[in-house]
Amino acid sequence: MAIERTLSIVKPDATRKNLVGKIVARFEEEGLRICAMRKIHMSLREAEGFYAVHKGRPFFGELTAFMSSGPCVVMVLEGENAILRNREIMGATNPAQAAEGTLRKLYAASIGENAVHGSDAPETAATEIAYFFSALDLH
Ligand code: CMP
Repeated sequence: MAIERTLSIVKPDATRKNLVGKIVARFEEEGLRICAMRKIHMSLREAEGFYAVHKGRPFFGELTAFMSSGPCVVMVLEGENAILRNREIMGATNPAQAAEGTLRKLYAASIGENAVHGSDAPETAATEIAYFFSALDLH
């Protein structure tokens, strides 16, 4: 199995609810390692840059306003099949469809305010990691 790196974001709804520790602990309990981690507060422009792939979608304005509404914790997770593992731990984008025990089932209120983000493929993981971290930040 391949050792991968993926970007994870604890979103503003989850930092507001003081859930950073619980979410990070869950990743570690599941065998993923934290290679880099930082708390940030994105400007609207920075959120628009991060989610540029969704520009033109009807929810783009709502999404970027929300992601710049408060601090996030951005981190790089590493482990075997980290991209898929992270997505399994997060659960479906819409918490109403997320499996029991997943982070979104446990902590998310809606599809817009869904607690966590994770990269969906190796190419996106590379781009998303580079958006927030330089090679020297990854340990
Ligand atoms: P995320 O994994 O961060 O990737 C893109 C985000 O867009 C997604 O999580 C959701 O939070 C958000 N999103 C997707 N679909 C909708 C929608 N229909 N309405 C509002 N937000 C959405």
